[in-house]
Amino acid sequence: MARAAGSTNPPFGTRSRQFRALVVHSQPEALGELAELLGGLDLHVETARTPVEALNKLRQGPAHVIVAHHVTGTFDGVAFLEASIAHAPEALRIAVVASSDEASELDHRPATEGAIIRLVARASERSRLVGLVGEGIKLVALVESQRELVRKLQLEHQKLQRRETLLDTVVKERTKELEESYGKLKIANRQALFGLAEAIEAKDPYTKGHCGRVAAYSLVLAREVGYPVEGLETLEFGAFLHDIGKIGIKDAVLLKPGPLDEVEWVHMREHPMKGYDIASKIEMLHPIMPAVRNHHERWDGSGYPDGMVAEHIPLVARIVAIADAVDAMITDRPYKSALPLDECEAVLRKTAGKMYDPALVEVFVSRHLGRLYHDEYDALPYDDGYEASAS
Ligand SMILES: [Fe+2]
Repeated sequence: MARAAGSTNPPFGTRSRQFRALVVHSQPEALGELAELLGGLDLHVETARTPVEALNKLRQGPAHVIVAHHVTGTFDGVAFLEASIAHAPEALRIAVVASSDEASELDHRPATEGAIIRLVARASERSRLVGLVGEGIKLVALVESQRELVRKLQLEHQKLQRRETLLDTVVKERTKELEESYGKLKIANRQALFGLAEAIEAKDPYTKGHCGRVAAYSLVLAREVGYPVEGLETLEFGAFLHDIGKIGIKDAVLLKPGPLDEVEWVHMREHPMKGYDIASKIEMLHPIMPAVRNHHERWDGSGYPDGMVAEHIPLVARIVAIADAVDAMITDRPYKSALPLDECEAVLRKTAGKMYDPALVEVFVSRHLGRLYHDEYDALPYDDGYEASAS
């Protein structure tokens, strides 16, 4: 549909999708003819009679196609086209000159910038003008659609970046919450386990503090022999609760001040399996079952309840066995006095390879780990990290 020139047309820039053309010619008839030609390409065509008027229209909004008449000396359309670059830098610029000679003359005129196509104002050139403008508009449409695509992609990219930032924030918050919950759970677990240990010691007050000391000796020995760091906490709890089965031992046997008879020993020796049964019913205690069940196994296979031999005994149980024996030897009990540390170490060495893992005994004795509760030994860290070491 042709949209010919006229003052009733809206100013440039008010139509969103239509491409715009500006035609400048000093003669009204020729101006109307050019406007009609371009209007046939479904362009919105603006017209001007002078370069000044044309520049004013360009200031209202850029044109995609600018066609200017040129007559050397009287109507400098080429100068106007050069001036239009500042207002419509990407427009297709066409100069319509009066004759071939004039077109040749213009070739010698120094160009400023931007290509200006020159056409001679005769009938045979009109179809060329229409073809040029048609192709130019296709190119403009292609460039605009590419720009629109790039703009949409940039918007999507910005949206993705915002979502990524939001997601990152949410993930950090959730991680922090989970870490806090995990920390609280660990504290609650530890408190629950301490409660269990207290229940054991409440039954047998003569062993007050024994569970904690066995845990501490076990930790020190485990660290000295390169026990996996990630398993230290479980080892600590296992050592702490190794005698949990004593909850199921009759008071008459557990608290008997004198030596046990054979029947009583049989009952007392049930405590590892009683502890194992208790631990097996509490999922949180499953990892510590080897320490509970096998801490009375002996290196030579004479222990109980499974009669395991040497390295078939779980390492944690071998460690706890030594820690348990050491604390029993070097603390006062109602029925015996505490042994000095050097005598305790002598007993350990003597029984290594029979009762205890000889390699573990060697480390424990040679590094005097039994000094743990003496002044010359640093306090054992009792939290995550296990960084401090024996002095
Ligand atoms: Fe025990």
